[in-house]
Amino acid sequence: LSGAEVHGGAPVRRVAVLGLGLVGCGWAVAFARAGREVLVYDADAAAIQRGLATVASRLEDFAAAGLLAEPPAALLARIRPADSLAAAVAAADYVQESIPEVLEAKRAFAREAVGALCPHAVLASSTSTFMPSELYGGLAAASQCLVAHPVNPPDLVPLVEVAPAPFTAPRAVETTVRLMREIGQSPILLRREIQGFVLNRLQWALFAEACRLVRDGYASVEDVDATVRDGLGMRWAFMGPFEVGDLNAPDGLRDYVLRFGPMIEQMNAASAANPVRLDGALADELHAGRRAVSPAESLPARRRWRDRRLMALAAHRAAAERPPGEE
Ligand SMILES: NC(=O)c1ccc[n+]([C@@H]2O[C@H](COP(=O)([O-])OP(=O)(O)OC[C@H]3O[C@@H](n4cnc5c(N)ncnc54)[C@H](O)[C@@H]3O)[C@@H](O)[C@H]2O)c1
Repeated sequence: LSGAEVHGGAPVRRVAVLGLGLVGCGWAVAFARAGREVLVYDADAAAIQRGLATVASRLEDFAAAGLLAEPPAALLARIRPADSLAAAVAAADYVQESIPEVLEAKRAFAREAVGALCPHAVLASSTSTFMPSELYGGLAAASQCLVAHPVNPPDLVPLVEVAPAPFTAPRAVETTVRLMREIGQSPILLRREIQGFVLNRLQWALFAEACRLVRDGYASVEDVDATVRDGLGMRWAFMGPFEVGDLNAPDGLRDYVLRFGPMIEQMNAASAANPVRLDGALADELHAGRRAVSPAESLPARRRWRDRRLMALAAHRAAAERPPGEE
């Protein structure tokens, strides 16, 4: 099955967002924007206040970019803090956990959360690196649990990797995929568990090759970035590597694979025989390459710039005509 082939599932009205950091705030906006009631909770009371302020200012930015169908106040009114973890979980049809990436903390959280989880509800983790069976193995309500890995920030980048464990019930997968689709995210389905899911495996394969090219003296940090920014990334904003291949050979993807296959195999084997060690020396070299074009003081402004560019891209994608064949 692909994400697009998953159907069914139960409607979700009320969502709990647990952990209101960077990712939790994005989730709260994504759910509230789609009309869901959102209960938020964070173990740190100050983080709730900070998080709600972040959400409010994000909503203002979204409104300014023309990305909201309602005034920010209407969305904010749907986001309410809960008194405790259990209260947030018990009231929800769907729980999205976004606490720090620490296995023991996540497992302790899951043990507590499943105690309050409604029998029909789903518990999903935003984890980037842990597999669902590591997080939920052995829990009483394990069949209701899975990973729903977003890309940061989830309110601007639609992909969500839905990764069930072997013990996750199909119904939980269906409900999650349905919810993600209904709120305008783009869910994909992991057919089997694998570390890094799909996105980080692709991202880090490219990162490792980029590091190798710099380390071995073939190109500068800035020129590798320019290659993606001004070359590959132009297409990657609207198509993936298989569609790129399909369109880049006269007879489609088979033709592309057979034409370029030997070269791809050769380069891949050479890379595998020349592993990259991400040690301090390489980190220093890469960091210096970035600082040469962007001083450390400009990072906060640059992050805001990145988010504005993402908003413009989201608005462009929303306005763009959908390709033929897509509903
Ligand atoms: N940052 C990213 O780019 C990104 C992208 C995708 C997925 N993720 C995943 O999302 C999760 C959260 O990442 P983040 O960057 O938002 O972290 P963060 O540190 O910004 O936020 C985590 C929040 O969780 C709160 N918290 C800690 N323990 C808690 C508990 N037991 N109950 C409730 N709240 C608790 C903290 O107070 C904090 O506010 C991680 O699993 C991460 O791997 C992150």
